[in-house]
Amino acid sequence: MKRSFGKLNDGREASLYTITNGKGMTVCLTDLGATLVKVLVPDKDGKETDVILGYDTAQEYLDNGFYFGAVIGRNGNRIDKARFTIDGKTYQLAVNDNENNLHSGPDGFDSRIWEVKSCAENAVVFALESPDGDEGFPGNMHAEVAYTVLDDNTLELCYTAESDADTVANMTNHVYFNLGGHDSGSILDHELKLATEYYTPVIDEQAIPTGEVASVKGTVMDFSAGRRIGQDIDADFDQLRYTGGYDHNFALSAKAGEMKPMALARCKKTGIVMEGFTDCPGVQFYAGNFITPHTGKGGAKYDKRFGFCLESQYYPNAINQEGFDSPLLKAGQTRRSVTRYRFSAE
Ligand code: GLA
Repeated sequence: MKRSFGKLNDGREASLYTITNGKGMTVCLTDLGATLVKVLVPDKDGKETDVILGYDTAQEYLDNGFYFGAVIGRNGNRIDKARFTIDGKTYQLAVNDNENNLHSGPDGFDSRIWEVKSCAENAVVFALESPDGDEGFPGNMHAEVAYTVLDDNTLELCYTAESDADTVANMTNHVYFNLGGHDSGSILDHELKLATEYYTPVIDEQAIPTGEVASVKGTVMDFSAGRRIGQDIDADFDQLRYTGGYDHNFALSAKAGEMKPMALARCKKTGIVMEGFTDCPGVQFYAGNFITPHTGKGGAKYDKRFGFCLESQYYPNAINQEGFDSPLLKAGQTRRSVTRYRFSAE
């Protein structure tokens, strides 16, 4: 189903697409940023609950710089000094986060109107042509993101990228979850389990990894057995001080490719449980520390830590960090990556 999602201030028109599995899960998406607008799932009493933060109109997505629900491209997360070198040539990106590049720059994939390649009852496929030099990245890139609502209340995101020159390909989705409902306030009482005992510590406030893959054991970063997000988020621990709360890459595997569990989150109040799976090497667990007070869907009040993200990705700054699996995409090859979020209630 397609309807208007409003006109942007620059005159572009955005549309809203609704897909469903006919079994209780409905998802709304806009072609602006191939963005998730609503994810409706049943709670423990069967009540339909919208578990992601968002807005009622497309322009609000551009006005608020939080990347709610958006596809990030060509590269999710940070690139040190906003520079990288491929085949002996150095490329300079926008410096938009301290001295670094974050989420590709001010005109990333999140602010484009994507073409809708196909739209079925339970799936929509968005496509984007990103020209050579786009945001500073080399090569003409064809990118696609397919969203499918599977029968078991799983939302599947399948990314593909191809380029005619060697480049960086590391798309993710920046959706903010609140399993109590998007309008239910803080996520600090959610329980989160991350399917790993390793993370990539950062050097300082600029949040660039040191290059080390460190154990979480015995620290407040340990979500391997489950932990309330709020339990230690303000602990006197360097890594948390640098980033103002959880905002770290957790290392799931050394290399991209194999599908595996990523995370499990649950909210007691609604009983909603979300399990994440991905074939990416890492996942950025971001606790929404930078959300400022403002109004979202249906007049809901959003504020700091009212949503959390699990952004599947290559490790931050991997294009510059020897020892991290590289997001380099060779000319003529296809990068395909899958992330799934499965919902249930208990
Ligand atoms: C990512 C980063 C955070 C923050 C958000 C956007 O998750 O890791 O530091 O920049 O994006 O607000």
